[in-house]
Amino acid sequence: MTSSHLGLSFVDQGPILVRAHRIDNYAVHIEDGLLSRPSSLLTDVLDRLDSPDVVIAVDTGAAEHHLGAVTNAVLSTGRPFQVVPVPAGEASKSPHGLRALIGALHRHCASRRTLLLAVGGGMVCDLATTAAAVYMRGIPYALLPTTVLAQVDAAIGGKGGLDDDGAKNLLGAFHHPAAVFVDPLLTGTLPERHIRNGLAEVIKVALIDDTDDLFTALEQYPDRLPTGQALTGIVRAAIAAKLRLLAGDPFEQGDLRRLLNLGHCIGHPYEAATGYRVLHGEAVAVGMAVAATTAHLTGVAALAERDRILGLLDAYRLPAALPEAMRELTWEGMDTVRRVRGGPLHLVLPRTPGNCTVTDDIDRAAYDKSVSELAARP
Ligand SMILES: NC(=O)c1ccc[n+]([C@@H]2O[C@H](COP(=O)([O-])OP(=O)(O)OC[C@H]3O[C@@H](n4cnc5c(N)ncnc54)[C@H](O)[C@@H]3O)[C@@H](O)[C@H]2O)c1
Repeated sequence: MTSSHLGLSFVDQGPILVRAHRIDNYAVHIEDGLLSRPSSLLTDVLDRLDSPDVVIAVDTGAAEHHLGAVTNAVLSTGRPFQVVPVPAGEASKSPHGLRALIGALHRHCASRRTLLLAVGGGMVCDLATTAAAVYMRGIPYALLPTTVLAQVDAAIGGKGGLDDDGAKNLLGAFHHPAAVFVDPLLTGTLPERHIRNGLAEVIKVALIDDTDDLFTALEQYPDRLPTGQALTGIVRAAIAAKLRLLAGDPFEQGDLRRLLNLGHCIGHPYEAATGYRVLHGEAVAVGMAVAATTAHLTGVAALAERDRILGLLDAYRLPAALPEAMRELTWEGMDTVRRVRGGPLHLVLPRTPGNCTVTDDIDRAAYDKSVSELAARP
């Protein structure tokens, strides 16, 4: 049919194709004392975005130590700002927490150009990323991660998540930040357990991409945790490795996502089986130990390589065995993932630092053998 009375010719009844591309460019700044030195970094971001004001969403645990420095840094930009405390703990990473943050943004008359600045660990980074994605259909945000885990992982990649209906990260969005400010010195106030927890994700990324000899660098600290410049170097190398892995796939749709799942195929179900009593990095450490043992038992990795991985987990006093009481529950959780996906787990097996392979799955016999072998270690 042809319609010509508007001067338009509709000769084709087919679909009209839409191409909606968006390119997000932003910097991850990594520097000791990023906030305590006079710096124009934040002003530059606000100028670039033409942002008139800032809302700081700060984890109450991080606020205790760092809110003063953060507000000084925001004051120096000359922009008005509001502070929204977010109660520490995973419970805030929820629809309830989202409503509270969205309500605060609304009450403070945040506009589409307001910069939301998240300060804290992975919890507040995930919450703020999600809030920034949905408030007024999307506002700019920046992250100032204050835990090792958030600096090397949760704040890197533009991924927000909320727990709901008993499931972790059931809701969420990809929404890339305007900037990420990483000051490794801020992690100095963390309890040691949380530093070790974050270093588990560093070990993971070093096993996938060891371009900067990160794994060997980690092996230099067998008896004490890296601090100061050493920690900053390790955090920088871990972030660079994660960003290299995400570079070709910023929305994590392809196979790279699978590699980053090292330790998670078993770690996630284990974490859930414990009712999230273990920390995320600790669960990933257990997952990596099982994956490394399976890699050896299936001929993918030499025994010496498996021992090198387990040795590093031991050196950082990270758990490297699945507790017997969790064996069945974890397997059930893995089965649930298989059912939800309608396919195999795609278990990532480490061969050597910087060299992993993805196998289809792990069968029950191999799982049991690996779990038992780890349990029998002295
Ligand atoms: N989006 C992602 O890609 C991604 C990746 C990994 C993990 N995560 C998420 O990250 C969360 C875990 O992050 P986390 O381990 O940082 O936990 P967290 O954010 O809960 O912080 C841990 C604890 O440290 C406190 N804290 C934060 N900074 C501090 C500081 N500098 N000094 C003293 N205390 C401080 C907090 O108050 C909290 O009690 C989980 O929700 C997980 O799902 C997200």
